[in-house]
Amino acid sequence: MARIFSGIQPTGIATLGNYLGAIRNWVALQDGADECVFCLVDMHAITVFQEPAALREQTRQMAAVLLACGINPERSILFHQSAVSAHARLAWIFNCVARIGWLNRMTQFKDKAGKDREAVSTGLYVYPNLMAADIHAYHATKVPVGDDQLQHLELANDIAEKFNHDFSSTFFPRIEPLVLKESARVMSLRDGMKKMSKSDPSDQSRINLTDDSDMIAAKIRRAKTDSEPLPEQLDQLAERPEARNLIGIYAAILGQTPQEILHRFAGSGFGPFKEQLAEALIAHLAPIGARTRDYLTDPTGLDQILQAGARRAAAIAEPIVTEAERLVGFLARA
Ligand code: AMP
Ligand code: TRP
Repeated sequence: MARIFSGIQPTGIATLGNYLGAIRNWVALQDGADECVFCLVDMHAITVFQEPAALREQTRQMAAVLLACGINPERSILFHQSAVSAHARLAWIFNCVARIGWLNRMTQFKDKAGKDREAVSTGLYVYPNLMAADIHAYHATKVPVGDDQLQHLELANDIAEKFNHDFSSTFFPRIEPLVLKESARVMSLRDGMKKMSKSDPSDQSRINLTDDSDMIAAKIRRAKTDSEPLPEQLDQLAERPEARNLIGIYAAILGQTPQEILHRFAGSGFGPFKEQLAEALIAHLAPIGARTRDYLTDPTGLDQILQAGARRAAAIAEPIVTEAERLVGFLARA
């Protein structure tokens, strides 16, 4: 049995992109032979400022969404990162193993810091070291992520290798990314070249998993398209990113290929297609939204689920990180 680890930031409401690109795969992985550890990475979230009350609210909200989507807290371990101090302890050791030159190559930091690199938090800079600690604290070897996280996983392997070398050990195993399929990349409803994101300023750009049926229908109706009818062949959509995206969403929801969807709608305009897409999305997402709202009526119950998960997580991570501390040369903890 291998161990799977993945994390999601509790910032903003989960979108259809998070669902098709990550959460749905997590739910499927639960049915395999591997042990799954799923983490709400609140420590990663504060690398950019979060209102404390909003962070608490959004951590519960993301827990509710994951449970509503089918994460089973008995079968998988579901918890919030800050509740298991092993993450912070191993991250510090990794801050001392990783080289500044390695972090300087991280494209996500460059994107997020933008032009004002001197003004962002130091946490944002060492974010990938914390991510490496998340995974290695569990000796997890399989990590489901979107392709935007691959560079961070390579870094996590470099850190493990250098740690093993520096401390003459074979303590940290190599990790293997489980990369999600290209078709699972969902783009903005307003701009087919931009990823659908919970941090986009326009709510019209995304479907939130908590949107009700009317909102879903309205957003799909207003989604950007073009004036051409839908073509016969998928490659004819190469220059039509918005159309390609809507076809991809419909295919992902129905579990069919985009080409199968095109066969059904070839020659038709977007009107009838959008109507059926909205219907399929509502059928799929409305029950998730309802279950999410249901979980959110009981914040104490959600906290208890996360705390129980944190106890199970700590039982795995604590001995691993204690051994890393011993290898580094720290005296035993009391
Ligand atoms: P984030 O929302 O950036 O914290 O991402 C959480 C997880 O959802 C990661 O595994 C991402 O790769 C995935 N994800 C986020 N947005 C999308 C999207 N538009 N399409 C597919 N996957 C996504
Ligand atoms: N950085 C990841 C993201 O933004 C979230 C994350 C944090 C993560 N720790 C992780 C993902 C460990 C996989 C494994 O999507």
